[in-house]
Amino acid sequence: MIDILDRVRNKALHAKIVSAQEAAELIKPGMNVGTSGFTPSGYPKAVPLALAERMKEHPFKINLYTGASVGPELDGALCEVNGIDKRMPYQTNKLLRNLINSGEISYSDLHLSESAQLLRYGFYGKLDVAIVEACAITEEGNIIPTTSMGNTASFVQQADMVIVEVNTSQPLDLEGMHDVYVPLDPPHRLPIPIVKANDRIGTPYIPCTPDKIKCIVPCDITDKTRPFGEISEADHKMSEYIIELLQNEVKKGHMPKNLLPLQSGVGNVANAVISGFVDSDLKDLSVYTEVIQDGMFDLIDAGKLNFASGTALSPSPDGLKRFYENIKEYRKHLLLRPQEISNSPEVVRRIGVIAMNTAIECDIYGNVNSTHIMGTKMMNGIGGSGDFARNAYLTCFFTASTAKNGLISSIVPMCSHVDHTEHDVDIIVTEQGLADLRGLAPRERAREVINKCAHPDYKPMLMDYLERAEAATKHAQTPHIIKEALSWHEKFMETGSMK
Ligand code: COA
Repeated sequence: MIDILDRVRNKALHAKIVSAQEAAELIKPGMNVGTSGFTPSGYPKAVPLALAERMKEHPFKINLYTGASVGPELDGALCEVNGIDKRMPYQTNKLLRNLINSGEISYSDLHLSESAQLLRYGFYGKLDVAIVEACAITEEGNIIPTTSMGNTASFVQQADMVIVEVNTSQPLDLEGMHDVYVPLDPPHRLPIPIVKANDRIGTPYIPCTPDKIKCIVPCDITDKTRPFGEISEADHKMSEYIIELLQNEVKKGHMPKNLLPLQSGVGNVANAVISGFVDSDLKDLSVYTEVIQDGMFDLIDAGKLNFASGTALSPSPDGLKRFYENIKEYRKHLLLRPQEISNSPEVVRRIGVIAMNTAIECDIYGNVNSTHIMGTKMMNGIGGSGDFARNAYLTCFFTASTAKNGLISSIVPMCSHVDHTEHDVDIIVTEQGLADLRGLAPRERAREVINKCAHPDYKPMLMDYLERAEAATKHAQTPHIIKEALSWHEKFMETGSMK
């Protein structure tokens, strides 16, 4: 284990090395705290744990802003002591979700590309403290991040004081894997000069100065990444449908042989879809995405992925081990950028991303709900799905055709909440099939979605609804029987089944 003194390369900064408890003392009730971390990667651990201990003794709350979801030592520990008042911009922690849905925590669910700018403009108050996990600190005081970039560079720029956790469990080979660029705000913003996934436009460190660093805390707690589930038969099918579609896009001349840059969302389905590319004849692929999961390592090993740009490594625990063991090879193919750049609408539109994200439910016209269970309870948040869905060249959503052992249809007459409108969505995929909505008008889209994607148990019910809605509205542009459109959800809440 390399000693923390070697990692803090500015000798004068050695005097600022303190314990996690001493650092946590600097955080006062009501403060706005921005931390590194995006998925359970690269988030601070020792200081939040010490802060949670303090909150246990003397209860108080802070406002917590991150890149996205973070690990249990941060969201989990602070929620256990009810220490969060306001939270943004994304989360996946069960306890936190419960506190959000019981009204204890005020949660701003934001497009991840916009969260840093909203903070810079002051909508979340002045940032008092940034707590940042680092691999090392350079002679100049610049910070070398670890397994995620997220909003860290903006937090360091905006905060009154910076606490750096130097994590000796993170390999120094991470140095050089980051490309840090924080755009200026309008009207001074310049074009972001990225035309390929591997274009470098910034610095390999977060710019900082020794005087801005208030203290440095040693830490050796590892990232608590989450395992993926087994790839199911349904996941395999969805992966096959999308790969077949993309192969046809190449045949039609819509895309080059090596496709356009791929983006794939969080979780099992997304990981399974990317893994599916390994067995295809597609090669020389590139990825412009938010999170880099195990499937990308499979693609690199198979010699099919030239380069992946993201904002965080988000592998399973085995995937993280595999990454660390082969870091010298993988780092040739990977780059981590601030989420304002990895998810930049400007870049996503320019390079023509193929966006592949997961839905909770889709309606017959192609609207997608990614965030709310039965229209009211927050699941995780919109994350980057909106950044990509609105701006991609090809926008695809995946969902199993049913949930809760078939008692819920994921294809419904009307979504109980809409994150991505029919205008954004090109392709919907379930294990039943793939609906290609491009070029279709609403009533045509409805037939394509019902015929290709709905589960056989629900297909007749959906077709019956559509036909009655068409008759009731005399074939209006988007036929609905408004008082019935959400009755499927009501029925589930009353009886426990949509059938
Ligand atoms: N109605 C009600 N509940 C539903 C449902 C539906 N139509 N579909 C799924 N669910 C429930 C599941 O039963 C499960 O419940 P549980 O936690 O009690 O077991 C839960 O929702 C999650 O479903 P699951 O199938 O495990 O989802 P997932 O892990 O594939 O995640 C999203 C799906 C949509 C929640 C997730 O992808 C997400 O948060 N997306 C938004 C952010 C995003 O896309 N980020 C990537 C951008 S780069």
